[in-house]
Amino acid sequence: MILVTGATGRIGAKAVRALHSKRLPVRALVRDAARAPQDGSWSGIEIAVGDFDQPDTLDAAMAGVDTLLLITPSVPAQEIAAIDSAVRRAVKHVVKITNHKATDDSPVDRRRDHARIEAHLKASGLTYTLLAPNLLMQNLFFVAPMIKQTHGFVMSAGDGQFGMIDSRDVSAAAAAVAADPAGHEGRTYLLTGPELVTYADVAAELTRALDEEIEYRRLTPDQHREAMVRAGLPEPVAASNAQVFGLIAEGDAAWLSNGVATLTGHNPRSLRTFVTDHITAFK
Ligand SMILES: NC(=O)c1ccc[n+]([C@@H]2O[C@H](COP(=O)([O-])OP(=O)(O)OC[C@H]3O[C@@H](n4cnc5c(N)ncnc54)[C@H](OP(=O)(O)O)[C@@H]3O)[C@@H](O)[C@H]2O)c1
Repeated sequence: MILVTGATGRIGAKAVRALHSKRLPVRALVRDAARAPQDGSWSGIEIAVGDFDQPDTLDAAMAGVDTLLLITPSVPAQEIAAIDSAVRRAVKHVVKITNHKATDDSPVDRRRDHARIEAHLKASGLTYTLLAPNLLMQNLFFVAPMIKQTHGFVMSAGDGQFGMIDSRDVSAAAAAVAADPAGHEGRTYLLTGPELVTYADVAAELTRALDEEIEYRRLTPDQHREAMVRAGLPEPVAASNAQVFGLIAEGDAAWLSNGVATLTGHNPRSLRTFVTDHITAFK
């Protein structure tokens, strides 16, 4: 049995479907059963209702599980609770979604958090595989309302390049490892799209697909943090996001890998494919 946490999220939902379509026994952990897809795409999939903040619900969901696909909002206490539950339930292998630059001394809080979780996982005695995606293309949905209203978006990543990846390819790679972890123990795979892009490229692809000019309005990280706070993001989240975009401007995410092709046998989707497939979200 494979348990997928974060199963209603961007990576988890499609990983659940991919595993089910491989005819593997899969259980989806959801906080609220009503948030499971209601379109029939999870039909036949076992659902466990559970919360990272309630260890007894995790223990119940982990019963009989061999492999855990661990996707969380990366709050250390929550993810560590899931790892501890996996140990109690004698899970064999954990596939964890992490961050490429997760180090103890990272200037970015969410990267230090992932580093803490990775250290706990490595010390747990469980076998594991780490999957570290570059920036998700699906993050662009956060600026879709602004694009619709203002024909542009703000960002503070300058002309920094990044190996943006479609979360559908992260899901496929995660499902491939969870389906057959043999040979992936102790390994880390970096996951990226096929090309380095900038937010100017994002604006150009949207302009092409929408057939109207979409403007990339460059902000400084400080201006961006203030704009995100005004838009309703909590200050610490806005500050952390702005910090990451500032690092991207300096080339921090300008890396590519062949991880998706290695794990799935297919090339990752391009930004153009993502924009074409999701254009209605930006109209
Ligand atoms: N965004 C990026 O560009 C990027 C890049 C690299 C790595 N990552 C990593 O990707 C991971 C996030 O994956 P994602 O984007 O697929 O997640 P996501 O779309 O943000 O979804 C988060 C999932 O966690 C669930 N969840 C939240 N709190 C929970 C709780 N207390 N108990 C049980 N479930 C809970 C949510 O359930 P509900 O539906 O009930 O809220 C949802 O299914 C993070 O570790 C992040 O660091 C992201």
